[in-house]
Amino acid sequence: MNQQVAIITGAARGIGNGIAQRLGADGCKVIIFDFDSKGGDKASEDLINQGIEAYFFDTDVTNEKSVLNSMNLVKEKFQQVDILVNNVGITGSPNNLWETSVQEMDRVYFANLRSVFLMCNVVTPIMLQKNYGRIINIASIAGKEGNPKMSPYSSTKAAVIGLTKSLGKELAETGIRVNCVTPAVVKTKLLEQVTEEVLDYMVEKIPMKRTVEISEVASIVSWLSSKECSASTGAVFDISGGRATY
Ligand SMILES: NC(=O)c1ccc[n+]([C@@H]2O[C@H](COP(=O)([O-])OP(=O)(O)OC[C@H]3O[C@@H](n4cnc5c(N)ncnc54)[C@H](O)[C@@H]3O)[C@@H](O)[C@H]2O)c1
Repeated sequence: MNQQVAIITGAARGIGNGIAQRLGADGCKVIIFDFDSKGGDKASEDLINQGIEAYFFDTDVTNEKSVLNSMNLVKEKFQQVDILVNNVGITGSPNNLWETSVQEMDRVYFANLRSVFLMCNVVTPIMLQKNYGRIINIASIAGKEGNPKMSPYSSTKAAVIGLTKSLGKELAETGIRVNCVTPAVVKTKLLEQVTEEVLDYMVEKIPMKRTVEISEVASIVSWLSSKECSASTGAVFDISGGRATY
């Protein structure tokens, strides 16, 4: 993947950061889109200190104007995007559906689904110009199975799976591959948003009885980002310690 240009959203920390480190080690030029300016600066500095060509663009992926501004800068500097990893996601407040406000549903929808649509909407035409690209969306096991007290999260992650399948089919005759991964529990700051009860529920359901490592998610994303991922598109790659039954 030498010299390929990779955008990773939400890479200031957590899984996105692990993916940025891995794709950087694979030889990519790494571009971080995140709205955490301090974390984003630090993450790109860390990558640069490891000899990786890295850039941080302060971007709120729920905001169309912010995405378009950053994408204009990317187009100006690189004229191409080879890899897009849509990693931003939030859990929302842990509540039963009937106790969840419409505003909270909208907040999670904007972060988890609309942002993926927006990024794909802008980046796909750039990839089509070279007839090459790899798009990887980070969904969740919650999107397949549905977690209680997480209806906005589970439903928007299910929609990310649907979007991946649609776009994968739309682009199947081109050189662009679109896939998603569905991790189970990965220990990151995201989990601070869920209660101990929900966390125990999720780990208990994992046959391996352990959480997934960030590096394990980064490893599968690395392969999905490569030319070797040639005959898979619109597919859902499980990384759930055996929890997924389909
Ligand atoms: N951690 C888990 O157990 C787990 C399991 C399955 C799926 N996932 C998915 O993996 C992805 C990453 O999760 P994580 O645990 O690393 O999360 P995290 O909360 O640790 O990190 C999320 C990153 O996204 C950034 N971000 C959030 N909203 C943004 C916005 N609107 N614009 C730009 N940046 C924004 C944050 O600043 C942060 O850097 C998410 O999509 C999540 O749903 C996580």
